[in-house]
Amino acid sequence: MTRHGPTAEPHRAQWRTPTGFLLAAVGSAIGLGSIWRFAYVCYENGGSAYLIPYGIALVTAGIPLMILEFGLGHRMRGSAPLAFAKVSPRWEWLGWWTVIFVMFGIVLYYAVVIAWCVSFLIYALTLAWGQDPNAFFFQRFLGLTAGPQELGDVRLPILLSLVVVWLINWVIVFFGIERGVERANKIFMPLLFVLTTVLVVWTAFLPGAEEGLRRYLFQPDFRKLAEPKVWIDAYAQTFFTLSLGFGIMIAYASYLPRKSDINVNAAITCVVDTVYSLFAGLAVFGTLGYMAHATGKPFEEVVQKSIGLAFVAYPQAIGLVPSFPKLFGFLFFLALTVAGIASAISILEAFTAAVIDKFHYSRKAVVSVLAITGFLGGVVFTTGGGMFWLDIVDHFLSEYGLFAACILQCVLVGWVLRASELRHYVNSLSAWKVGRWWEWSIRYFIPAILLILLVSGVVKEFSPPYYGDYPLLTLLFLGWGWLVVTLIIALFVAMRPWRRALPH
Ligand code: PHE
Repeated sequence: MTRHGPTAEPHRAQWRTPTGFLLAAVGSAIGLGSIWRFAYVCYENGGSAYLIPYGIALVTAGIPLMILEFGLGHRMRGSAPLAFAKVSPRWEWLGWWTVIFVMFGIVLYYAVVIAWCVSFLIYALTLAWGQDPNAFFFQRFLGLTAGPQELGDVRLPILLSLVVVWLINWVIVFFGIERGVERANKIFMPLLFVLTTVLVVWTAFLPGAEEGLRRYLFQPDFRKLAEPKVWIDAYAQTFFTLSLGFGIMIAYASYLPRKSDINVNAAITCVVDTVYSLFAGLAVFGTLGYMAHATGKPFEEVVQKSIGLAFVAYPQAIGLVPSFPKLFGFLFFLALTVAGIASAISILEAFTAAVIDKFHYSRKAVVSVLAITGFLGGVVFTTGGGMFWLDIVDHFLSEYGLFAACILQCVLVGWVLRASELRHYVNSLSAWKVGRWWEWSIRYFIPAILLILLVSGVVKEFSPPYYGDYPLLTLLFLGWGWLVVTLIIALFVAMRPWRRALPH
């Protein structure tokens, strides 16, 4: 094996249809966060008034970065490491770092959360959580220990569901872009839209739902816009929810045919994700409104976000639904599972594409090894201490890891490749042309915003009380350690030579 410069696969796989690509990109963007996080953040930050900062973040950062990732992947016809190496070989490590900490970090626990959803899908059929969903979830289901240092036992139902999740991931990515990822998303996305619509309509007829919706959207609090936190939340959310900085959109766009509209597709992906999140919020807040009504509690007491919302508040509400509560619960957890799997496979694909680009191993072998290691790596999160680990690793990777990766990516394209070059490229392909503002945004604005987010986060990190009240040593070891170890592995992989010929 000699040291070659990076080259792409001679016969790169392609999406069969433009819609197939769009659905896959949207499938990656719409995830658990879109269902359980967006609505809460919106509520907390001024209701529909929050749509102003969110919309601004979308236009000034989300869409430009999406154009960057689609444009770079398409132009370089490669996954993140290959695309970055083609800009400059000295930057290849950045591509590896991104796909490694996402695959062996974010997706490890993300798959475990999908596994919780799969378990709850089954529990919904008997309303197994009974009268006390809180105790059921934390004690009986998770078997939560006293802290991250105490792992406790592996929880069997979670482990079994995790096997199911990885089997599904494996099968889909195993069959490649067209027959696997594209086909799966062509089923998953319409299914998700139908499920969500059913839930929204169903909740709309529950008593008290209006009150929930009024609190969610129809009582804008414009004074909130003066608070910096609201703006920080809006920007921070944009990157994660659009799967930016994961190397995913670069890989997905590398499978586009030569003549493909970049800018319009990027804008559509961002808008669909946002509209979906808003829409799913109607079901979430309608249900919470109903629960407040049914239990006679004040609305503020029933709202919760993310894990608490999906696995404690929602199960409680499901138990109260007057007709067919089991079906209602089943549909809700099915929607979460489908949204989650469409995101998980996008990461698996981003990593698979990277390995194939560089080492030309066979896809089937790469995906099989990845699915097995992904499953094994996730086992630690299925233990009694798993939720603490999940909390810490998520906090560090999905904030600092992603912010840092996005900043460096902007520097690479904005300054090393030069933003003007990529802008002319994407404009030559697209019906909607972006102006000079796009270059400005990539070169200055987005890195500046991300730097503010990064620095303010890190400063907070080192000032007590530490994140989540965990001991500082645990945070250093788990949070920062994870980032550093993946970085070292990335540097190592980037130094390996490129292999040109396909072995098969
Ligand atoms: N956009 C996804 C979400 O909102 C983020 C994500 C993508 C997470 C891929 C994991 C894998 O959930």
